[in-house]
Amino acid sequence: MKKIQILIVTVLISLQSLADEGMWLPYLLQSLNYKQMQALGLKLKASDIYSVNDGSLKDAIVQFGGGCTGEVISNQGLVLTNHHCGFGAIQRLSSLSNNYVKDGFWSTTKGAELPASGLTVTFIAKMEDVTTTILNGITNNTTEAQRQSIIEKNAASLVSGYAKKAFENVQIKSFYNGNMYVAITSVVYNDIRMVAAPPESIGAYGADTDNWVWPRHSADFSLFRIYANANNEPAAYSPTNKPYVPKRSLKISLKGVQEGDFTMVYGFPGRTTQYLPAIAVEQIIQRNNPIKIKIRTAVLDILKANMQQDATIKLQYASKYAGIANAWKKWQGESLGLTKTNAVAKKLAYENAFIQNIKKNTQYSIYANILPSLNEVYEQAANYFYVRDAFTETINNCEILNQSLALYTPLEKALIDGKTEVIEKEKTQFYAKYKSFAKDYSPKVDALVLAKLLDIYHTNVQPIYWGTAATINWNTYNNNGTTMAAALMASTYLADSAKAKQLLTMGNNDLLLAIQNDKAYAAASALRDGYIDNAAKQSNTYQADINTLQRNYMKAQLEVMKTSKILYPDANSTLRITYGKVLSMQPKDGVTYNYYTYLDGVVEKYIPNDYEYNVPAKLLELYRTKDYGRYGVQGKLPVCFIATNHTTGGNSGSPALDASGNLIGLNFDRAWEGTMSDINYDASICRNIMVDARYIVFIIEKFGGATHIIKELELVQ
Ligand code: ARG
Ligand code: GLU
Repeated sequence: MKKIQILIVTVLISLQSLADEGMWLPYLLQSLNYKQMQALGLKLKASDIYSVNDGSLKDAIVQFGGGCTGEVISNQGLVLTNHHCGFGAIQRLSSLSNNYVKDGFWSTTKGAELPASGLTVTFIAKMEDVTTTILNGITNNTTEAQRQSIIEKNAASLVSGYAKKAFENVQIKSFYNGNMYVAITSVVYNDIRMVAAPPESIGAYGADTDNWVWPRHSADFSLFRIYANANNEPAAYSPTNKPYVPKRSLKISLKGVQEGDFTMVYGFPGRTTQYLPAIAVEQIIQRNNPIKIKIRTAVLDILKANMQQDATIKLQYASKYAGIANAWKKWQGESLGLTKTNAVAKKLAYENAFIQNIKKNTQYSIYANILPSLNEVYEQAANYFYVRDAFTETINNCEILNQSLALYTPLEKALIDGKTEVIEKEKTQFYAKYKSFAKDYSPKVDALVLAKLLDIYHTNVQPIYWGTAATINWNTYNNNGTTMAAALMASTYLADSAKAKQLLTMGNNDLLLAIQNDKAYAAASALRDGYIDNAAKQSNTYQADINTLQRNYMKAQLEVMKTSKILYPDANSTLRITYGKVLSMQPKDGVTYNYYTYLDGVVEKYIPNDYEYNVPAKLLELYRTKDYGRYGVQGKLPVCFIATNHTTGGNSGSPALDASGNLIGLNFDRAWEGTMSDINYDASICRNIMVDARYIVFIIEKFGGATHIIKELELVQ
């Protein structure tokens, strides 16, 4: 009896964790997940979610731009995505007199919608397993190089003969670290127009301080429309194009959600690494995350202090600051969560079970060496991977170092090669790139960053990895970042636009000399070359070994561990479904996060004219008069909620759907305490954050006054 009880508990626990963990391939739902999704409350058929035939939910989901998700929410091609996903377009379409970032944008008619050039949305027509074809010809004796070339050849011939319509694309994607290949047929639309966006003070309310944080109070959404030619097919922008008629659009539910309700998120998660060995996770916690966080903390401290003092610097650096802070905050949450949930110990226990299974079954003995080999390579590679992160973060976050390399390198090469037309082309490009960089560049701020990062690099990376030239430089400046930074900034042509212009008046010989005498460029080149010779060559070799071993480890896990767990493939920017439930959370002892926030919280956080917490007067007025229309619940307006869906970067803008497939929320973030879900998901602390659909529709109707948009929507009461 006791035994049976234990068994049942174990099965329940593994089912429970499976319920929330996983980014599943939609075309495998029926065979892998459907029963469990039903048990959790799903009311649809698997073929309602994904079908190669037209009209399943899949046909309403798009990859928005390069790195986000969006969904079609009307029969006239209206697309909902995040404000931060549409932000690039909103910003490019704005000017000081029409500042849509600050004031928002509500088109009044279709004619008033603004073409967002460069923006695309991609539909997935079909996904098909083509592993056998792609791996055809590979044997146990195939070398890595041969393997690569066989795969490339097989993929090319498969793609060229693949049955598809003229306007469709086919791409071969690798899953499970190269153990499975899928052909993905897609359709890209490129006449996309901006329809509406709330002001930044609503769409990005709380900005960087609230980023990754629960409780959350932003309406992180914007609206676009897909336009198509007369045949409803993709076409370049033309005033004669028509709103795209979708095969499927999502209904929006105004019913709200309760704790425990089933939710699923449909979208394009970017990248996860769930199947790393314990040693890799340990290195992330002990070595890689700490150095990356240390460097970015130093950069952010300098930027913040200077942005607070100077409005011009604030404008120049706001978006760079947001970008640097986004990953910085995520890594901190990741390390915290991995530690708190004992991720390394759990991985070791998993590895132990893996080893035991191999011992029990002779047919698995071919896999016995994988983990020892992985451990060995990771140990040997540890210092090189650490240097790789320290170098990358130093170069990427110090503008004069990365810009001198980016701007001078091609021009210097052209000057040395001496072909006149190439030189002229590179000169033009140099100046264009220089201007766009210089517009938002403060040499004063960058000098501080440079000084600090040089100190950090040279004290945290051992001299054996620096290289000779970089060592000589460092000694020349008395091993002092401030001294070295001052000398580089005084010498460079790139910190002053008059000096940069001067470069272009020079003859080719003088120009080449000037570039080669620019001490910032020389220092950046020395750092880079020293890094390449003393660390990158080695880290690349180790990485290649790890990639092969990881592929074998993944293959082995799929076989050896198949009875204990269904393994989903790591995220790779392909269409996935994740499901779970609306759930509160205990991030630490004595603290509980409720699963809902309300407009009251927006007003609690309000700081008049603050750049993060200002609230538009009209929203304050709607709050004061409790003018919530059909969107309020007992005098309160729901704003955001959390659930256990396993999401990652790329899932921004993904629809959160209820058991009937109606849109109940818009995914835009995770709680930072659980960002370790990219490496080791744990339902106790991993939560995705969504805007409640009612808050979105409320903002469109009551704040934006865009009743014509409301009329397009299919609202379910
Ligand atoms: N943390 C979210 C994501 O990873 C939102 C990022 C944009 N917002 C910001 N304040 N930087 O993409
Ligand atoms: N904000 C992320 C994105 O842009 C989603 C948050 C996450 O990493 O889960 O995709």
